[in-house]
Amino acid sequence: MSLQIQHFFDQPTFTYSYVIWDDQTNDAAILDSVMDYDAASGRAVYDSADELIGFVNGKQLRVNYIMETHVHADHLSAAPYLREKLGGKMVIGSEILTVQNVFGKLFNAGPDFPRDGSQFDVLLNDDDILELSENIKIRAMHTPGHTPACMSYVVNDEAVFVGDTLFMPDFGTARCDFPGGSAETLYNSVMKLFQLPSETDVYLCHDYLPEGRTEYQYKTTIGEQRANNIHIGESNNKDEFIAKRTARDAQLAMPKLIMPSVQVNMRAGHLPPPEDNGVSYIKIPVNAV
Ligand SMILES: [Fe+2]
Repeated sequence: MSLQIQHFFDQPTFTYSYVIWDDQTNDAAILDSVMDYDAASGRAVYDSADELIGFVNGKQLRVNYIMETHVHADHLSAAPYLREKLGGKMVIGSEILTVQNVFGKLFNAGPDFPRDGSQFDVLLNDDDILELSENIKIRAMHTPGHTPACMSYVVNDEAVFVGDTLFMPDFGTARCDFPGGSAETLYNSVMKLFQLPSETDVYLCHDYLPEGRTEYQYKTTIGEQRANNIHIGESNNKDEFIAKRTARDAQLAMPKLIMPSVQVNMRAGHLPPPEDNGVSYIKIPVNAV
């Protein structure tokens, strides 16, 4: 035994965060953390992050990396808070520059907002490897489509954290209609994931209860996805997938927290810089797109 994985579920945003660690060395990484944010009142608290901190401290783990699979549009990241409390480096895919350019422009973030990924400590390219410990290696697999910067993280060829690239087989795949998203690109990314061995465990970033299911789930396998994913299982071809995905995206409303999520997550989880009264504000562009 060395690789250990614990999941945490944030019900309001249906998000799974993870702590993964080496039980021989206590080296750990945190994936896709959540800041609790109430959009109506503009209140941000850190109860979910504190739960992660309690877990890490309880097991006396040493956090080396605080990782994001992508710039989330449905929840805010707690990465800077976790780094302050636990240490570790904040990690994301290098295509974050593309995402920062698009959203920097949309939110008119101005010259004070660097679009070079410098808010993060480590930018990963496809196939880069992070050594979490002597026994655990994390390989970055670039899986764009939902967003340009989406990374899947393959851990020791035993497990893969796919972000939003795949959901449970009965829910399918992520939407591709955000800026820089592409159904064709997502299809290619999923085909890349499907090259992994069937028995590889697939850890999800979200689960929503489709009709007929009563329990939230966070884990499946590549084999199960290949056989049963309702959008992109083996019976589907590329054109069918693109048509299905595009039709579904046209029906979807924007996520409730998209405005605060994007403005905070493009800054690696930092709130926008405070104005001269010391308060940070979230902007809403009206009729901009
Ligand atoms: Fe997402």
